[in-house]
Amino acid sequence: MAIERTLSIIKPDATKRNLTGKINAKFEDAGLRIVAQKRIQLTPAQAGKFYEVHAERPFYGELCEFMASGPVVVQVLEGEGAIAKNREVMGATNPADAAPGTVRAEFAESVGENSVHGSDAPETAAVEIAYFFSGLELVG
Ligand code: CMP
Repeated sequence: MAIERTLSIIKPDATKRNLTGKINAKFEDAGLRIVAQKRIQLTPAQAGKFYEVHAERPFYGELCEFMASGPVVVQVLEGEGAIAKNREVMGATNPADAAPGTVRAEFAESVGENSVHGSDAPETAAVEIAYFFSGLELVG
């Protein structure tokens, strides 16, 4: 399997509860390497641009407000099959469906406030990484 990079976001519900380290430990224990990371505060407009693919969904406004409600940690994870591996470590979008031991099973509060985001495909990973990071900031 190829070495990939994927965009990960530790969301405001998790940063608020001081869970960044515990979540990062799960990524690293799964063999993912954090090759870029920064803690930032998004505006609702910046969150809206990031999630514009969901603009027609009924939860879009709520999602943008939530993502701007506190700091997020944006990061790039690298490893073999990193996109699928990260999705495995995160667990299902709705924590009620997430497998035991996954980030969302352990930490997520609801389908909206679900602690982490991860890219879903190589094309979206490239776009999402470029939204937050320049090439110079990725140090493998
Ligand atoms: P994420 O992986 O960041 O991608 C889109 C996000 O929309 C998703 O995680 C959830 O946080 C959010 N989301 C999906 N479905 C719902 C929903 N029914 N209600 C509120 N938020 C949702």
